[in-house]
This record gives sequence, C-alpha cells and structure tokens, in this order.
Amino acid sequence: MLNPRHILHIQPDAVSLSQAGARFWQEQAQQAIAQRGVFYVALTGGATPQALYRLLAEPAFAGQIDWSRVHIFIGDERYVPEDDPQSNFGMALDCLLRHIPIPAQNLHPVPTHYPQADEAAVRYADLIQTLIPSTHQRPVFDLIMLGMGEDGHTASLFPGTDILQETTRNVAAVYVDKLASWRVSMTYPLLNQARQIMVLVSGEKKAGVLAHVLQQGSARIYPVQGILPIGELHWFIDQAAAGKLDQSSS
Ligand code: 6PG
Repeated sequence: MLNPRHILHIQPDAVSLSQAGARFWQEQAQQAIAQRGVFYVALTGGATPQALYRLLAEPAFAGQIDWSRVHIFIGDERYVPEDDPQSNFGMALDCLLRHIPIPAQNLHPVPTHYPQADEAAVRYADLIQTLIPSTHQRPVFDLIMLGMGEDGHTASLFPGTDILQETTRNVAAVYVDKLASWRVSMTYPLLNQARQIMVLVSGEKKAGVLAHVLQQGSARIYPVQGILPIGELHWFIDQAAAGKLDQSSS
C-alpha cells in the first residue's frame, strides 16, 4: 500500500511528465505571486528536468508568469564554474533562464568561485536566509524541485555521507566519494521547510527504489526518504518509473 503522504502524478511517458510538471510549476508561481507577491523556487539539476525547463521557456508558459517576481535558486550544485558542462545552474541557464525576461538580480546560483566548497555553502546559506522570509528561523521556499538517483539520493544527499545527519545548517558542502567531487547542497532542515516539493522521476531503472520509497512503512534506507516537508510532497513520475508500485489500497 502506498503512503498517502505522497501525492502522485503518474504520467504515461517522459513527455507528459514534463508537461504536467511545467503546468504545476506555473500554477505554483502564479499562486505564490497572487498570495505573497513573490515566488521563491529552487531548481534541480540532472537530466529529467531539462525538458520541463525548456517547456517553461516557451511562450505558452513563460508568457503567463511575471518573472520580475520570481527568484530562482538551486537545490544542489556540483562545485564547478557556471560555464562547466557539469554545472546545474549552467544547465538551467541554457534550458530556461537565458530565454525568459527575468532580471539578473533574481538569479541566485551557488557562488562556486570560492576556493573551498565549505565557504560557498556558508555564503549561500546566508544569502537564502537574507532573501527568503522564515518560519521558526528557517527560510520557507514556495517550491523546491528535486530528482532521485538510482541509489536513492536526492539533491546532493548521497547514501553514506555526513550531510544526511545535518540538523543545523541549511546548506552544506559534501564530498561524494563515488563521484570524486565536491557538491554544495541544501540539507533536510531547509528542504523540509518548503511549502511544496516536487520530485521528478523517470525511467524503469528507478522503479525498484521508487516502489520502496513510496510504500507505506518502508524501512528508511534511501536519502530521498528523508524528504518529508511541512508542506506538500508531489511526485511526478512516468509509467516506466511507476512500474513496480503496489497501488492496492489494503
Ligand atoms: C544533480 C542533482 C541530483 C539529480 C538526480 C537525478 O546534481 O545531479 O540535483 O540530485 O536530481 O541525480 O538525476 P536525473 O534526473 O539525471 O536522473
């Protein structure tokens, strides 16, 4: 039986997943702007969101959003310059941000020019704290986008890394052994403060992990299972990734 805490949007294929995700994103932006005058959103890296970003850049979506009221952050970043092909923010620029009328001062990438990823994490946490209104001293994003790896990681919260134990800092640097590289990532305390989280999952290689994660009462073994926001948790999934879900109600 699936855990009712998760709101599932299962789509027939990757194309309709991106369309449904883009519609949801647009609605969240419009709602936040109507209610609070501004939309604070953290994008995700990875391959899955790229088609969604390209859709958002199209007039049918982009034309419906007041971009002067949107502030863009990134949930995790590979510790490389923005013009490196590995950069998550660089990817978001290429797919979306260069193609929409958003003021440059509304773009908030991780500052990857510091020699140490640790310092970048501190600066990014300060920036977020300064710009975004807080509840109980923790900034509240209107929407955080996430992905899920085949090993159950999300953002740069990888299995077996210290950042999974973080209870204080909102952003931290993490060295990922299996990738032999530094990343900067939002941590559970910040991620879980969000009003809305949307996780994008595509492809049959993720079906087994996804079935475990969404099952009610599963043992906690994957980092993505630590994503339990105060707000709503939406999963945008294609049929291939949904292939192993037990959708029975008892
Ligand atoms: C990154 C991410 C990461 C990603 C997952 C899923 O920096 O790569 O933010 O957490 O979302 O690895 O990536 P795919 O969409 O490419 O499967």
